[in-house]
Amino acid sequence: EKPVYILGIESSCDDTSASVICDAKVLSNVVANQEVHSKYGGVVPELASRAHQQNIVPVVQQAIEKANITKEDLSAIAFTRGPGLMGSLLVGTSFAKSLALGLEIPLIDVNHMQAHILAHFIHDNENKTPPFPFICLTISGGHTQIVKITNYFEMEILGETIDDAVGEAFDKSAKILGLPYPGGPLIDKYAQLGNPKAFPFTKPKVGDLDFSFSGLKTGILYFIQKQQRINANFIEENLHDICASIQYTIVEILMEKLRNAVKQTDIKHIAIAGGVSANSEIRKRLQLAEKHFGWTTYIPKFEYTTDNAAMIAITGYLKYLNNDYSNVSVTAKARLKV
Ligand code: KG4
Ligand code: ZN
Repeated sequence: EKPVYILGIESSCDDTSASVICDAKVLSNVVANQEVHSKYGGVVPELASRAHQQNIVPVVQQAIEKANITKEDLSAIAFTRGPGLMGSLLVGTSFAKSLALGLEIPLIDVNHMQAHILAHFIHDNENKTPPFPFICLTISGGHTQIVKITNYFEMEILGETIDDAVGEAFDKSAKILGLPYPGGPLIDKYAQLGNPKAFPFTKPKVGDLDFSFSGLKTGILYFIQKQQRINANFIEENLHDICASIQYTIVEILMEKLRNAVKQTDIKHIAIAGGVSANSEIRKRLQLAEKHFGWTTYIPKFEYTTDNAAMIAITGYLKYLNNDYSNVSVTAKARLKV
């Protein structure tokens, strides 16, 4: 039988990405990061859509070239319909529609949050694939969710953030410390050298499996301001301990909610997704949980945890197998549930 080639296109936030997969194997996964945002300390939507507009053609061309195929070989085109920034989503959506129309092949719309989770089904020698049902903790700059996955497209949100995403908690804390955006990886780096119990920060009280991070951010801000009134060099002198304490608190919150989810569902197959799953403390704690609680944990390769088009392509492939195509009149949606 003829292999299925799917082109995936992702443009929901500040990364323009295109990927070609053959069946469930990734042939290419090109990501153009947008440098423009770093000096603003966060993603500027208007600048993001302009950059997508510039990047999309060369990124798609590169993805097809790297896969060693021609566009005529493609079986279908999958794209991120939402959730995300509307202006950014429109670039990928319009491009995907035009290309699918031109090539006269099926168009497949993909939910970005489902795609983060379904990235676990990319065939890769290093990754093990979770069995159904499993729990996925999706943690990134835009999302914080605990989802129960019963089948590829049967997902239930068990809990989610009521305010900031966990990546934002890292990035906003880093900003308070004067670190550049995105500060999450820097907090992780400095935390390795510090004492996680040096400064106890208060964990939020929020119901059940939901999350809240805005109070923690404010708590950190007030704490730092107070200490700086006593010692102007407080941050410089204690950077490692501050970062270790912030990271410890955030990861404690995540682990506590995961333990609750396991208790409620009796499911011990635990996957993580999203850019924050690169964090060394969460990885360490998940490994410990394998030993202590008998969980089996699933962490995809780094390039498939951050925003990327391979996860869009694999989701498109799974929909393709179900003949689940989109009409060309499909529209981008800034808000979309899994
Ligand atoms: O998935 P992602 O690349 O983009 C979206 O937000 O969708 O995630 C980016 C987020 C940023 O907030 C970044 O600070 C955070 O992931 N991040 C980390 C680490 N690496 C990336 N946070 C903590 N520790 C890390 N090692
Ligand atoms: Zn994402």
